[in-house]
Amino acid sequence: MKKLKVAETLTLPNGTIIKNRFFKSAMSETMANRKNQPNQLHVNLYREWASGGTGILVTGNVMVDRSALGEPGNVVVEDERDMDVLKQWAKAGTANNTQIWMQINHPGKQSPRTLSKEPVAPSAIPVGGSYGSVFNNPRALTTTEVKELVTRFITTAKIAKKAGFTGVQIHGAHGYLVNQFLSPHDNQRTDEYGGTLENRMRFLVEIYTGMRESLGSDFPIGLKLNSTDFKDGGFTEEDSIKVVKKIAELGIDLIEVSGGSYENPKMSSGTGEGSDEVFFLDYAKKIKSMVDVPIVVTGGFRSKDSMEEALMNNKTSMIGIARPLALVPDIPNQILEGRYITVNTQRLTTGFKALDKKLGALIGNSYYEQQMKRIAKGKKPKRHQNGWSPLFHTLMLHGPTALLPRRSK
Ligand SMILES: Cc1cc2nc3c(=O)[nH]c(=O)nc-3n(C[C@H](O)[C@H](O)[C@H](O)COP(=O)(O)O)c2cc1C
Repeated sequence: MKKLKVAETLTLPNGTIIKNRFFKSAMSETMANRKNQPNQLHVNLYREWASGGTGILVTGNVMVDRSALGEPGNVVVEDERDMDVLKQWAKAGTANNTQIWMQINHPGKQSPRTLSKEPVAPSAIPVGGSYGSVFNNPRALTTTEVKELVTRFITTAKIAKKAGFTGVQIHGAHGYLVNQFLSPHDNQRTDEYGGTLENRMRFLVEIYTGMRESLGSDFPIGLKLNSTDFKDGGFTEEDSIKVVKKIAELGIDLIEVSGGSYENPKMSSGTGEGSDEVFFLDYAKKIKSMVDVPIVVTGGFRSKDSMEEALMNNKTSMIGIARPLALVPDIPNQILEGRYITVNTQRLTTGFKALDKKLGALIGNSYYEQQMKRIAKGKKPKRHQNGWSPLFHTLMLHGPTALLPRRSK
């Protein structure tokens, strides 16, 4: 049998060898307890994923500040209080020669009003769009607070390394805080963190360089970045390319491409352009020809052929996969052993159009959260035929406030 492209190793610029081209993208597990601590469920879930053959497992977003959550059940790492279980999590995720990278995030103004009375943001500009009412109006961070947040990202990364995670990923996409700083719409600051693109990317650059200084040159640091926010006056493709070039020049090890935010959640639906099922591929190919850093495209990969085609035509260096791995945690093994068919991730519905329109995204997320929890409990994922079970699951877990959308992914 011809050797598959997905089976090839990848060497990161710092010399780290990734065993194959499968990259499990972040999916917030929402499994932390009320104190936002990771636990045995995280350990079990990542053990299962590691044995499924993926080269790099990125964790769901881990928050740097317990007063700023993106959703209930987020893991928070701001000090070493959970070191023991973090070590177990890292150990489980590195079994089978797997890399486990912690995704590090702060939601900024995308912290729902059920969780934040007054979220913080680069500027006091509310979240727009049809989900806007989910969030309280933010207040602008002071310059001192911005610097403190930079330190928090670096602290969390240092703890991740100490616990045995083999890399970290800065969440710079999907409308969260780093993305808010990059966006000329969301960031209208007049200090050194706002104005020109150089200033708007200062928050990201300081986080990155601070991490690099603390973690060393051989520790993988990745970035998840929007190709664009798909929003008038927001972070454009042109801006994105400039950020890619700058952060590549500074020595980032890998860039994952995504797009959208709560206001326009393209990360789960794609751009709708072109005939390919995979999102953001044209942009990825463009930046891939400009920088030497490995690029990962995430969104829409379902068939082995689309994965092979994207690698063959140099559109991406790795295959980013999220939802399918919550349904079939060993997709890589299945592909490498020639027994994979495909995974159906079609939207579940309740049968009531109005309800689906309002709660479709929530049902979608809840469905995948349910599956991750099943795997973590040693059960098999369960394919549902409609959206009622995920809806009840989230209601049981979070009460009626669950009916407010909780994340843009
Ligand atoms: C339940 C769920 C949680 C997610 N959580 C995160 C997250 O914490 N961080 C992130 O960058 N993306 C998150 N995403 C987005 C995915 O990483 C990915 O970009 C998106 O699902 C598209 O990829 P896919 O088509 O392979 O699922 C989440 C997606 C889902 C379904």
